[in-house]
Amino acid sequence: MHKGKGMKFVGDSRVPAERMPNIPKDYSEYPGKTEAFWPNFLLKEWMVGAVFLVGYLCLTIAHPSPLERVADPTDTGYIPLPDWYFLFLYQLLKYKYVSGDFTVIGAVIMPGLAFGALLLAPFLDTGKERRFYRRPIASGLMILALLSSIYLTWESVAQHDWEAAAEYGKIVEEVEVDTDAEGYQIYSTQGSCIGCHGDNMMGGAAAPSMFEHDYTPEEIIEIITNGKGAMPGGLFDGTEEELQILAEFISADGQPE
Ligand code: HEC
Repeated sequence: MHKGKGMKFVGDSRVPAERMPNIPKDYSEYPGKTEAFWPNFLLKEWMVGAVFLVGYLCLTIAHPSPLERVADPTDTGYIPLPDWYFLFLYQLLKYKYVSGDFTVIGAVIMPGLAFGALLLAPFLDTGKERRFYRRPIASGLMILALLSSIYLTWESVAQHDWEAAAEYGKIVEEVEVDTDAEGYQIYSTQGSCIGCHGDNMMGGAAAPSMFEHDYTPEEIIEIITNGKGAMPGGLFDGTEEELQILAEFISADGQPE
């Protein structure tokens, strides 16, 4: 027989004789299985937390975040990609009847129904059954949602042009162009070069940077005269001498010779 059984201890007026339902149990009857929150428990928590924090820091150093160049809101050529956990929604919006004119369906109604149902699930499904195979509707919807999320995420990764994005988002060294040089005067006034290649000659939506390749002045004259890829030739209408100065200026990465 336990000590004190059958007795009521009511010596302390703060301790009610009958246990109130919402007050946590007094664990002092389990000696050895409890510990003080401060400092014992908290110290353990902190030690585990520190291990994870250091591990996580090491991970970020080993695998740095794949950063792209600084965002430019005026650059419409950029194709943004959301973080991985939103890829399925991103992919959803590529399909015909959930994008364009129907974008409200894909962007608001479908996610709204799905997350609304999830939110209301405890009120909609009041059955006592907990085994998943006895709850075909709830389990079926859950598996369907899971499979479609996985499929959509997979598709978005497969369809993304990773190479073009890497090329596009590449971080290029900023070059301080000498805007007082004669070559720059020619660049900014002749043949509308500046309209495509930008006022720092680093390119933009319509053209690449001029300093990526180390062309000789002869090669640059060749490009200006005959064009290259999407750049038409014959834009330059200055003199032969100006063309030479411009080519040398570009070849020297925007620095005076
Ligand atoms: C219509 C827009 C446009 C204009 C105007 C233009 N360019 Fe270009 N430029 C381009 C494009 C696009 C490319 C990339 C061609 C390619 O590699 O397919 C390019 C490439 C170049 C290249 C080679 C860059 C590299 O690394 O391959 C040079 C040099 C160049 N342009 C100089 C000029 C000069 C000088 C002018 C002015 C006479 C000029 N461009 C005017 C669009 C333009």
